[in-house]
Amino acid sequence: MNPSSTNTSPYLETAYANDRAHVFHSWSAQGLLNPTVIAGAKGSRMWDEKGNTWLDFASQLVNVNIGHQHPKLVAAIQEQAGRLCTIAPSFANDMRSEAARLIAELAPGDLDMVFFTNGGTEAVENAVRLARGHTGRYKVLSAYRSYHGATGTSIALTGDPRRWGNEPGVPGVVKFWGPYPYRSAFHAKDAAEECERALEHLASVLMVEGPNTVAAIILETVVGTNGILVPPDGYLAGVRKLCDQHGIVMICDEVMAGFGRCGEWFAVDRWKVTPDLITFAKGSNSGYIPVGGVVISRKIADTFKEKVFPGGLTYSGHPLATASIVASIGIFKEEKIVEHAKHLGADVIGPELAKIAARHPCVGEVRGLGVFWCIELVKNRATREPLVPFNASGPAAKPMVELLGACKAKGVWPFVHFNRLQVAPPCTTSDAEAREGLAAIDQALTVADQHVTG
Ligand SMILES: Cc1ncc(COP(=O)(O)O)c(C=O)c1O
Repeated sequence: MNPSSTNTSPYLETAYANDRAHVFHSWSAQGLLNPTVIAGAKGSRMWDEKGNTWLDFASQLVNVNIGHQHPKLVAAIQEQAGRLCTIAPSFANDMRSEAARLIAELAPGDLDMVFFTNGGTEAVENAVRLARGHTGRYKVLSAYRSYHGATGTSIALTGDPRRWGNEPGVPGVVKFWGPYPYRSAFHAKDAAEECERALEHLASVLMVEGPNTVAAIILETVVGTNGILVPPDGYLAGVRKLCDQHGIVMICDEVMAGFGRCGEWFAVDRWKVTPDLITFAKGSNSGYIPVGGVVISRKIADTFKEKVFPGGLTYSGHPLATASIVASIGIFKEEKIVEHAKHLGADVIGPELAKIAARHPCVGEVRGLGVFWCIELVKNRATREPLVPFNASGPAAKPMVELLGACKAKGVWPFVHFNRLQVAPPCTTSDAEAREGLAAIDQALTVADQHVTG
C-alpha cells in the first residue's frame, strides 16, 4: 500500500504552493527553500505524497524519541482533548501534577520540582532566571560548541553561528571551550588529558571573570547539534566541583540529550552527576505537543518559597502537553525504551559505525552513545581537515549537500550539520531498521569519499 493513501487531507495537493506563498521558515533564506511535503509518518519512517519513504534518522529535530504516531500516545492526547483542552497555570491540574511527579521521580538527587514551558528555549531562559534569582548574581558561562535556543538569553548563550545574526546579545554571557578530544582546543593527547585541561581552562575563565559574579554555568550534558560531543569521564563531575566551590548553579541542558536519547532517562545519569537545574523538552513527549521545562533542585525551589518567581507563561503546564508527557513516560517504561536505546547504541549503531569508519577514508571519527551518534567527515585523515569548512554554505557546502542527497535517494534521512552527519533515529527503531539505515549511509558515503584529498 502506498502509505500516502492514508492521508485524506484536502490541503495536501496545495501544501507546497501555500507553503512557498505564505509560510515563513526558521533559519532560512526564504527564497532558497524547496521543502518536501510530508504526507505522513509512522514509527521510524516518513513518506511524501508521492509515496517516497525514508527512515527518519534525525527523529525530525532529534525529538521524536518514541517514534511517529505511537498509538497509545495519540490516544492519550485524544482522550485529554475530550476531557480538558486548556486551563490556566494558576489552577492545579491532574495531568500537570502527575507529569511533574513522574519527572521529579526520574530526575537525580533532590531535583524535585518542575516549571513547565512550551519548548527548549523557554526552558533555558527560565533556568537562567532561576539561577539569577537564587544567587543574586548575573553572569552566565556557556560553551562555544553549544546550542541553547533562539530567544534572547538562549541565543546569546548559544556558541554556534546561529548567534551571529542575533548580536549584539544580552550582557553577562561569557564563553568557554568544552572538551572535544578529536579537535582539542588544549592540544591534549587523549580524553583524560582533554578532561583535565578543559577543567583547568574553565577554572581560569572563572578566576578572571570573578567567580562570585557568576550565577550559572550552562552546558549540554552531551553536546548535540554542535557535534555529539560526549564528555570525557570526570568532566561533568569536575564542573560540579567548580560550581560547588564558588556557589555557582550548574545547569545541564538536556533538551536534546534527555529522555532516552543517550540510553538514560537523563544523560547525567551516566556519570552520576546531579546538576542544580536540568532543562528538558523534545524527547519528554516526542514533540507531539510543544512542551519543555526545568527540573529544579529543592534548594533553588526554596529560594522562591517566600520570594516571587519573576516569570510565567500562559501555557505553562498545558493539559494536552502534560498528558502527553504522562503517557509517554508510561510507554517508555512499559516498552523498556530507554534500555532499547542503550542497546541500539552499544550493540548495533556503535559497532556498525566502527565498520563504516574502517571502510571510508572520508570518516575522521565516529562517536556517540544511545541513539545519538555523529560521523565526522574529513578531507584528510592525517590533518583532520574538515570535509567542508566551519559554517560552510553555498558551493563550499556542496560535498555535504551531495551526501545528504545520496542518503535520501537511498531511503534514509539523517541530520547534517557542517562536516558532520548525525545518526539520531527514534529510540524505538528496531535493530533491523537501524541496520537498514546504516547500510544506506554506508553506500552514500562513497560520494563523500570522492572529496578526500589525502
Ligand atoms: C540543547 C538544546 N537546548 C535548547 C534547544 C532549543 O529548543 P527549542 O527549539 O524547543 O526552543 C535545543 C534545540 O534544538 C537544543 O538542542
